[in-house]
Order: sequence, then C-alpha cells, then structure tokens
Amino acid sequence: MKAILCLFWTATTLIRAASPSYESHAAHDPNGIGKFYLGREIAHVMGHEGADWLERPERAAEEKPDVMVDLLGIKNGESVADVGAGSGYMSWRLAQKVGTNGVVYATDIQQEMLDLLGENMLKRGTRNVKPVLGTLTDSKLPTNALDLVIMVDVYHELSDPYEMMTSIVSSLKQGGRMVFIEYRAEDPKVPIKAVHKMSEVQVKKESAAVGLEWIETKETLPWQHMIFFRKPVKP
Ligand SMILES: C[S@@+](CC[C@H](N)C(=O)[O-])C[C@H]1O[C@@H](n2cnc3c(N)ncnc32)[C@H](O)[C@@H]1O
Repeated sequence: MKAILCLFWTATTLIRAASPSYESHAAHDPNGIGKFYLGREIAHVMGHEGADWLERPERAAEEKPDVMVDLLGIKNGESVADVGAGSGYMSWRLAQKVGTNGVVYATDIQQEMLDLLGENMLKRGTRNVKPVLGTLTDSKLPTNALDLVIMVDVYHELSDPYEMMTSIVSSLKQGGRMVFIEYRAEDPKVPIKAVHKMSEVQVKKESAAVGLEWIETKETLPWQHMIFFRKPVKP
C-alpha cells in the first residue's frame, strides 16, 4: 500500500512539475484578469451582452469569414468543433462545409450565447450544429472523435488555457487539426485591444506546452492569423 501511495505521489508530482503554471500580478492591463500564462496576460471573457458585436454587418468585410472557412480545408462528413462559438457566426458556415453527413459541435461557457446560437441556427435551417455547454476547464467534447477544432477570437480569453487545451487535445483524433484564429499582436493597425490579440510566437509556445505540432500559419485574412497545428500520430 505504502509503495502504491509513493508511486502515485511521484507521478502526480512529475505531472505538476511538467505543467506550466500561472502567475498573478497586481499591476496589469485593465482589459486583462491579472492572471498570466507563459508571459501573457489572459483577457476578460466577452459577455453575452456583447453578442451584437459578433453579428455586426461590417464584420464580413473586416474579417472575411467565408474566406476563413474556405482556408480551413474541411472535408464533407468531418466532425468539427467551434470552441467558444458565441452566437454561432462561424458555426453555420462550418456546418455547410461538413454537410449533412458531418457534425459541428458548438461549445461555449455561457448558456445565453448557446441560446442565441440555437435561435440563429433555427433561422438558417441549420440542423447539424450541436450546442455543448462547457466549463472553464473542460470543453465537454467527445474523446478522440474530432477531425478539426477551431477557436475564433477565443483562445486569449480562456481563463485556464493549459487545462482547456488539454481537454481539447484529448477530443481530437490522432492527426486531427487545431486552428487558432487570433487578431495579430504584431500589427498595430489591427484595431483591437492589446490583451485580445495574440502573436504567432506566443500561440506556438502555448500550443507546444500541450504537445501540439505546428503545421503552418496562413496570413491571408485582413486582421487575423490562422495558425494550424495537429495532434501527433502515435507510432
Ligand atoms: C469574442 S467571443 C467569439 C465568439 C465566436 N467565436 C465568434 O467569432 O463569433 C468569445 C467567446 O468565447 C467564449 N469562451 C470564453 N472562454 C471559454 C471557454 N473556456 N470555453 C468555451 N468558450 C469560452 C465566450 O463565452 C464567448 O462567447
């Protein structure tokens, strides 16, 4: 019994030592939560009261969501997750790409966002989007099941990025892809608050911490990087 307890203690200590930790700083950006991960301050979550901004008509010209969805290279019949889907601005576009043989899991931590998303999918007659209420640390997605996970303007506001990404990686099939779509921190002309932007270097650093392999970065969109990773295939 003592030997088993000792083994358990050693294993949990090693796991804890391997996981990056968080820091708190009293002096911080007012748009951030004062919690830092690998040198980056985490942003406040956008409340459901701001959902109109997500659906603003000028967004199509500013962010080119149809180009974005084309660049994802989704195949008919695939299983895809839109994590932090909000009002579903990207979810119905993804649903068109996977077709009726595929599925889009649209997750969020705010039930109010998922209610709006449900109304929007109903208006569009989109039936292959499944809303999923996640928690701050668990996406609640099925395990080893997904071909692709995307996060559009979400990652920088995950309160527990290491835990959440660990959960997301476990939902991907081996070789499944994870795509971060984030406003470019490198470009001062992108009119978004600093903590709501991410640099490519930072996204790569944080993805490496959960074992993702970088594939490529597409800089086609006006304001956002599209940074592609894959879950490694076990030999
Ligand atoms: C700025 S909105 C973007 C919504 C949508 N992706 C879009 O582009 O229209 C960010 C969303 O991420 C959600 N979010 C924040 N933290 C989350 C988490 N840990 N898990 C899932 N969703 C989260 C928020 O509730 C919010 O709806």
